[in-house]
Amino acid sequence: MTPEIITATYKVNGEERTIAHPGHHTLLEVLREPLSLTGTKHGCELGECGACTVLIDGEPQLACLALAREFEGCDIETVEALETGEGLHPLQATFADLGAAQCGYCTPGILMVSKALLEENPKPGRAEIKEALSGNLCRCTGYIKIVEAVEWAAGMARGDDDAGPADAVFYGQRDGGTDHA
Ligand code: FES
Ligand code: FES
Repeated sequence: MTPEIITATYKVNGEERTIAHPGHHTLLEVLREPLSLTGTKHGCELGECGACTVLIDGEPQLACLALAREFEGCDIETVEALETGEGLHPLQATFADLGAAQCGYCTPGILMVSKALLEENPKPGRAEIKEALSGNLCRCTGYIKIVEAVEWAAGMARGDDDAGPADAVFYGQRDGGTDHA
C-alpha cells in the first residue's frame, strides 16, 4: 500500500521548514531525513535510551516515539540549536573539557535534557541532575563526568567561574584559550 504523503510546516531551531513526508513518520525520521538534522541520534527506537531526545516547547521529548505531524506549530529544538556562532554553549564546553562525551552517541540527547533542566533550575543539585538524566543511557562514560559537566555548565551560566571540578583538564578555556588548571 502506498503511504499517505503529507505536507507539513515545522518550526525547528527557530526556522520554519515546509516539507513533504509519509504521514506515519516519526519526528526522529523527519528530523534526520528530509530536514537533514542528524545531530539527533537514532538509538533503540523503543523509548529506552534517550538518544533521540529533542525539546518541544522547551520540554524533553523522545523523537522516536512521537508522530511528527503532531508537532506542527510547536517550537522544536534539536542539538544543532546549541551552535549559535558565538562560541560553545556552556554544556558543550564542559562536556568537551571533562570527557563527558566519548563515542558521543548519547550526547545530543543528554545535552538537550540538560539544557531543559538548567532553564528550569539554574542551580540543580547532583541528585536533581541524575534524576533529570535517568532516561538517558550512556555506554561509555560511567555518568560521573556527565553529571559534573552539567553541574559545571550550570555554574558557568550563573557566572560562577569557580564552579568547575578541580580535575577539569582545560579549566579556563571558555574564551578559546588553552590554559590548563
Ligand atoms: S532512540 Fe528514542 S529512546 Fe532510544
Ligand atoms: S559517550 Fe558513548 S554512549 Fe555515551
